[in-house]
Amino acid sequence: MDKKRIAWCITGSGHYLKESIDLMLTLENVDLYLSKAGEEVLKWYDYDLSIFKKNKIKIFKDVTASASPVSLLYESVYKLVVISPATSNTIALMAQGVSNTLVTNMFAQAGKCEVVSLVFACDTEPVVITQAPKKLVTLYPREIDLKNFKELKKFKNVIVVDNVKSLKKHLKKLSQ
Ligand SMILES: Cc1cc2nc3c(=O)[nH]c(=O)nc-3n(C[C@H](O)[C@H](O)[C@H](O)COP(=O)(O)O)c2cc1C
Repeated sequence: MDKKRIAWCITGSGHYLKESIDLMLTLENVDLYLSKAGEEVLKWYDYDLSIFKKNKIKIFKDVTASASPVSLLYESVYKLVVISPATSNTIALMAQGVSNTLVTNMFAQAGKCEVVSLVFACDTEPVVITQAPKKLVTLYPREIDLKNFKELKKFKNVIVVDNVKSLKKHLKKLSQ
């Protein structure tokens, strides 16, 4: 059996946050990586870090300038990096090759180590209905958001999905 682990990254997106967490909690061999905004947004949606700790999930927060946990990728600890949900900010940074947060560094270093990344992008349609903390809101992603999403799809060793069904399908295949 493959003992390698999955690095699951949560960014500051309320969109598909619940679906992402529900899916992550079904996995056994997963570590959690949080962007600074990801850590904050969890609180907006009433998530306490204790639910991850209860499931024995190790949590890495964005507290070092060098994104030091990426060294685990150099030690071949991970077989897959999942970024779900991914904000339009993180999608933009990744699509432009910028790595200045823990999550974008995990993505960049996964690419350099030839580890596959599975990215669940949120702003993928001209109109998106999203879950704000207290109600559903309709958003209109900008052309630049849709362009960055399309750009990221061209990356080698990167799978970008835009719905839960597709996320589940790829996760099943890649997590074996
Ligand atoms: C309650 C709340 C919900 C948010 N949901 C989203 C979202 O669904 N998609 C998005 O792109 N940004 C969302 N944001 C804004 C991001 O958190 C913000 O752009 C942040 O800088 C992203 O940083 P990160 O990409 O490093 O996580 C939300 C912010 C708040 C306060």
